[in-house]
Amino acid sequence: MKGIFITMEGPDGAGKTTQMELLSASLQERGYEVLLTREPGGTKISESIRGILLDPAYKEMKPETELLLYAAARAQLVQQVIGPAVEAGKAVISDRFVDSSVVYQGIARGLGIETVYAVNRPAIGKYMPDATFLLDLSAKEGIARKKNQAELDRMEQESLDFHEKVAAGYRTLAERDPERILTIDATLPKEVICDMIKGKVFSLLR
Ligand code: TYD
Repeated sequence: MKGIFITMEGPDGAGKTTQMELLSASLQERGYEVLLTREPGGTKISESIRGILLDPAYKEMKPETELLLYAAARAQLVQQVIGPAVEAGKAVISDRFVDSSVVYQGIARGLGIETVYAVNRPAIGKYMPDATFLLDLSAKEGIARKKNQAELDRMEQESLDFHEKVAAGYRTLAERDPERILTIDATLPKEVICDMIKGKVFSLLR
């Protein structure tokens, strides 16, 4: 079987984890070995970097530091986990990938899309996702879904304005790359979202 690399994107609180689990189950039914991972994270080193990135204590973190740390965590994950799994014929589903850096650091932080790609090229190598699902949610709705959480991480504590730039940034990105990125209204029932995702993934596998 040929490996496949799928990523889930969208603002905080859009329901990516639920959809990853549903897709994983149906891929397994079709005989795929599935590997679920997340960014930042997915390896020991990348999870440590995640700790630094999301710690609300590090309010002084500069956008450039943030960009490089996300890219460092990604480089380790791609070489240690994603690349080998895809080469072994597995279906890899990642909760976020380089599109998150494009949107959060490139657009919302204002570092620029080209800078983000330049830094991330060595991190991702040839591993761009075969398909990406953007669970589209307004910034306000995303924040409302996270309200019950005990503590918000450093990124979640950002302003509404920042989260609005994220939501708009994702839409721009999806418009530029409609072949790879499928935008789905995250307020739809989860079964409907799951069917849309499966439709695209299974057409790619055929
Ligand atoms: P996480 O809790 O994993 O995401 P979610 O809110 O989707 O459950 O937090 C990861 C945070 O890091 C999230 O706010 C998005 C942000 N992020 C970036 O800013 N750049 C990146 O490259 C990645 C992968 C994530």
